[in-house]
Amino acid sequence: MSRVNAGILGTGHSYPKGVLTNADLEKIVDTSDEWITTRTGIKQRRKAAPDEYTSQFAVGASREAIERAGIDPEEIDLILPSTACLIQAELGANKAAAMDIVAACSGFLYGLSMAGAMISGGQSKYVLVIGAEILTRYVDYTDRSTCVLFGDGAGAAILGPVESGRGILSAKIRSDGRYEKQLYAPGGGTKGGFTAETIARGDHFFKMKGHEVFKIAVRSMAEISREVLCEAGLRAEDVDLFIPHQANQRITDAVAEMLKVDSSRVYSNIAMHGNTSSASIPIGLDECVEAGRVREGDVILMASFGGGVTWSAVTMRW
Ligand SMILES: CC(C)(COP(=O)(O)OP(=O)(O)OC[C@H]1O[C@@H](n2cnc3c(N)ncnc32)[C@H](O)[C@@H]1OP(=O)(O)O)[C@@H](O)C(=O)NCCC(=O)NCCS
Repeated sequence: MSRVNAGILGTGHSYPKGVLTNADLEKIVDTSDEWITTRTGIKQRRKAAPDEYTSQFAVGASREAIERAGIDPEEIDLILPSTACLIQAELGANKAAAMDIVAACSGFLYGLSMAGAMISGGQSKYVLVIGAEILTRYVDYTDRSTCVLFGDGAGAAILGPVESGRGILSAKIRSDGRYEKQLYAPGGGTKGGFTAETIARGDHFFKMKGHEVFKIAVRSMAEISREVLCEAGLRAEDVDLFIPHQANQRITDAVAEMLKVDSSRVYSNIAMHGNTSSASIPIGLDECVEAGRVREGDVILMASFGGGVTWSAVTMRW
């Protein structure tokens, strides 16, 4: 049986209307627009209202992706986001299997990698992969080292069969649990339980060793990007568009420099969105599609890093 190539047929994104600027944060914690801008590149991020929830934005992004792919929700065989079953019901994708992927900021590329394998292996024809997050619910707004970084949003892609030589060219997913405590929420799991005390202590909020995470993120994203490029028989100069996970402009710049991908070919929306975790790459990809920045035949490199720790990279020909 010949291998089916899997590619992206449509993309979409959605995010809350609410905006949290650096000036807003100056009123909440001891920080400044100048510090946040120079250390991270972030100017603002989206923040969901108390009555908004993750699957709402996931559904919005998915509807756009489904429409652009020109398929019916009932044709979807598999949904790979967080809150998968809620999204399935809302979309009326009644024939799809739905499952969550817990890989933090790497969730979307983990999803692309699995979608590619499911389509190539003949188990699925159309797969909906979503990165959707309301991270602002897990952020401690008394901790200035984390609360300035994260924002909310969702991005989605419909994957399906494409002609030979197109679509996903190579994909890799990795993790290393030895670094768990570099970026994690200590409460909420079975270890220590989920009680009034753990909530009062704020154990459900992110804790992060920013400096350590920075170094591992740069190293891991650069290494895995080299690996997927090599596997696809590509060089850095073949990359038309590099969409890294949007964690920090300085991380993006360092990875691009290590890979020798010219800054004109690197996408960044961190100033407007901050770090939206698994949503950052699909939001970026859809913004590039909408802006006409992706042309047929272009080589796209995507790389991510997140809690776990997890990291991943994918190359594709559009
Ligand atoms: C968090 C991060 C921006 C901090 O930048 P940094 O250059 O490493 O800064 P440091 O952590 O060394 O802190 C430097 C100083 O700034 C202070 N600081 C931290 N956050 C601050 C803020 N929001 N406003 C003002 N000062 C702040 C620190 O307290 C520290 O002060 P000190 O020197 O008096 O102790 C950076 O480490 C980072 O982006 N790490 C990766 C985080 C990430 O992307 N995580 C998600 C991965 S998916």
